[in-house]
Amino acid sequence: MTATAGSTSHVMNTYGRLPIAMSHGEGIWVWDTEGRKYLDGLGGVAVNTLGHAHPKLVPALQEQVAKMIHCSNYFQIPNQEALGTKLAEISGLTNAFFCSTGLEANECAIKLARKFGHDKGIERPEIVVYEHAFHGRSIATLSATGNVKVQKGFAPLTEGFIRVPLNDIEALKRATEGNPNVVAVFLETIQGEAGIVPMRWDYLRQVRALCDQQDWLMMVDEVQCGMGRTGKWFAHQWAGIKPDVMPLAKGLGSGVPIGAVVAGPRAANIFQPGNHGSTFGGNPLATRAGLETIRIMEEEGIVEHAAQVGDYLKQALQTAFAGMPAVREVRGQGLMLGIVLDRSCGDLQWKLAQAGLLVSIQADSVIRLVPPLIITEAECDQLIALLAPVLKEFLA
Ligand SMILES: Cc1ncc(COP(=O)(O)O)c(C=O)c1O
Repeated sequence: MTATAGSTSHVMNTYGRLPIAMSHGEGIWVWDTEGRKYLDGLGGVAVNTLGHAHPKLVPALQEQVAKMIHCSNYFQIPNQEALGTKLAEISGLTNAFFCSTGLEANECAIKLARKFGHDKGIERPEIVVYEHAFHGRSIATLSATGNVKVQKGFAPLTEGFIRVPLNDIEALKRATEGNPNVVAVFLETIQGEAGIVPMRWDYLRQVRALCDQQDWLMMVDEVQCGMGRTGKWFAHQWAGIKPDVMPLAKGLGSGVPIGAVVAGPRAANIFQPGNHGSTFGGNPLATRAGLETIRIMEEEGIVEHAAQVGDYLKQALQTAFAGMPAVREVRGQGLMLGIVLDRSCGDLQWKLAQAGLLVSIQADSVIRLVPPLIITEAECDQLIALLAPVLKEFLA
């Protein structure tokens, strides 16, 4: 069930919203304006890294708001410099550009790839993208997206993308064979919107080798799977590789809007003054949120925690639903998990919310769990206690 905005709302009708109005949160719990309590298994779609009202984050942000919220990129911004340095340290890459959202980070990556090509004399650069990918809803990023529903109604799309299936290196080689215009391969390390679909680690290593051999940029969209979510700072680190370009957003600011593109040596100096920019990008408040998020994560060992508690949750879900053939698979890494059903389950989001659990349904039949990374094992047990009876009844 969804609320139709139509009648009284003056907000555009872009989301199928549930009829619940959120009021406030604490830790992994949120309350609606009627005082009902929910376990937040969605974390604002992989955004609320530190949960709600984190006792270390709140005072730091309050202090920053009082000091300076915004200043333009015509000046040096110390928090931005510090966050660039920190992101370089945890990624092994070298330089960051800051923006405010995931699509904006991906738009920047696409521009980097095109300019990388133009600098080599390639007039019409082409970028390899993937089936079922999601990169955002601007015209260029929805063109890179592999979902016709996202694209419908917005033609003409941006040209210059070659689409290939996941995890098939021969298909990638065939699709690009003899094409001198290819400049980059652009992938989500784990596809989130598509229903938590991972790239295999050995495939990522094969793509890395091919990009090196062909002088292409390897660009990994870690907007959803980055920032500790899978139990490493960045999901591609499980494969032991380094990309050339890595868009980030979502979890980076624990809820304060921030995006970034982190680049390695082959891409760090492509842009020159005037090539790219963003008014809000890297402002003092947003970059303080990024700095404090990483500082608190380091202080509290949250990346390792996400790995451990993610394994615990995955196993507990597998145990809870063992012997239920309608639950095909529990997949994903760390705290980015998908429960794959054998049927459409769009209604489950509302049923679970009524039972006190927030999730989303992806690709029609996958329950997505991306809770705050501070969730404990005991809270995972509570999550399953809320989920299991509703799911069992739904499947009965
Ligand atoms: C992998 C990925 N890239 C890009 C985006 C777009 O991010 P935003 O909604 O912040 O523009 C998303 C959002 O779900 C995403 O999951």
